[in-house]
Amino acid sequence: MTDTLFSPLSFRETEVPNRVMVSPMCQYSSTDGFANDWHLVHLGSRAVGGAGIVMTEATAVSPEGRISPHDLGIWSDEHVESLERISSFVESMGSVPAIQLAHAGRKASKSRPWDGSDPICPEDGGWTTVAPSDVPWPYEGEPPELHELTTQEIAGIVDDFRAAAVRALDAGFEIAEVHAAHGYLLHEFLSPVTNRREDAYGGSFENRTRLVREVTETVRGVWPDDKPVFVRISATDWLDDRDSWDLEQSVRLADDLDDLGVDLVDVSAGGTHPDQQIPNTGPGYQVPYAEVISDETDVRVGAVGGIRTARHADEVVSNGRADLAIVGREHLRDPYFALHAAEDLNADTEWPPQYRRAVPRR
Ligand code: FNR
Repeated sequence: MTDTLFSPLSFRETEVPNRVMVSPMCQYSSTDGFANDWHLVHLGSRAVGGAGIVMTEATAVSPEGRISPHDLGIWSDEHVESLERISSFVESMGSVPAIQLAHAGRKASKSRPWDGSDPICPEDGGWTTVAPSDVPWPYEGEPPELHELTTQEIAGIVDDFRAAAVRALDAGFEIAEVHAAHGYLLHEFLSPVTNRREDAYGGSFENRTRLVREVTETVRGVWPDDKPVFVRISATDWLDDRDSWDLEQSVRLADDLDDLGVDLVDVSAGGTHPDQQIPNTGPGYQVPYAEVISDETDVRVGAVGGIRTARHADEVVSNGRADLAIVGREHLRDPYFALHAAEDLNADTEWPPQYRRAVPRR
């Protein structure tokens, strides 16, 4: 039987009630990395809204790994308690709580979008950013200080991801996602645009993918065997005019990640350089990349980007383009996207009993 948007899905022992996932979306609303009422209400509402998986925003594995001083973090044991409140509420609504573990690399230390996304220097409350090579993001004006990671410091990054995953488990999350997309630290290692290293972490495909593989293996190693690990990648840098990260390399990496026990590759794109040329920004603009990775490997894939309607999300799953429909901005517009999708598609989904008197009559 063909899967639909409301077919359940299992990863190891984790049962996901439907194929809608809330895409990770930074809220820039934390102080010192702590989750607060905003995060509980924001993520909690999307769980009330029926999404099968509710993923946190990029959650920094170290203070320097934050995009802005307002990012969510999990670099200390003190962060666990407020995250646990969120995972347990999400779970109580029948959704699967997931956390994205992240390091922003050279794109760290910026003000939040509504304050301009400008680099913040250490004297003004920012910090020195770290990257595979001394190639700063081409900011207009002075880029923030950037430090090229030593091999020993790279091992420290792997340890930060390990400790973050242990805490995430403690905080009750069921799925850990490694963020290796959008031009942040792990993607910076993958792409020859940002990785000019001449050691074991630069040059060949094998070397550029080493850190992503090490981090994934480490997270997989501390994450229980019965729970899933996802990895988000950018399928392409959209920089075909230069030596860059592309779909062919993404297929190879997805294969390697499958061998490492990754349960789903979350397929996004771009973020390495402002010169990127996005061929199309219409509905489902990144879905074809997920489809290629799904066709050419054995790993399950999630498709994200421009999925805005129930019928489109259902089409992605039922035509086998991807196993999960990952919905970002439409979830900002409509926290009840999944419940509304069930209505549109005539699928059986329970509204919370508190809201039952409002359930639309067919
Ligand atoms: C994002 N995106 C994003 N991606 C990610 O991997 N981690 C993150 O923390 C964020 N943060 C974030 C914040 C906001 C406000 C937006 C709008 C986006 C990207 C997001 O997850 C998604 O991939 C894109 O928005 C494309 O999907 P949609 O929005 O077209 O469904």
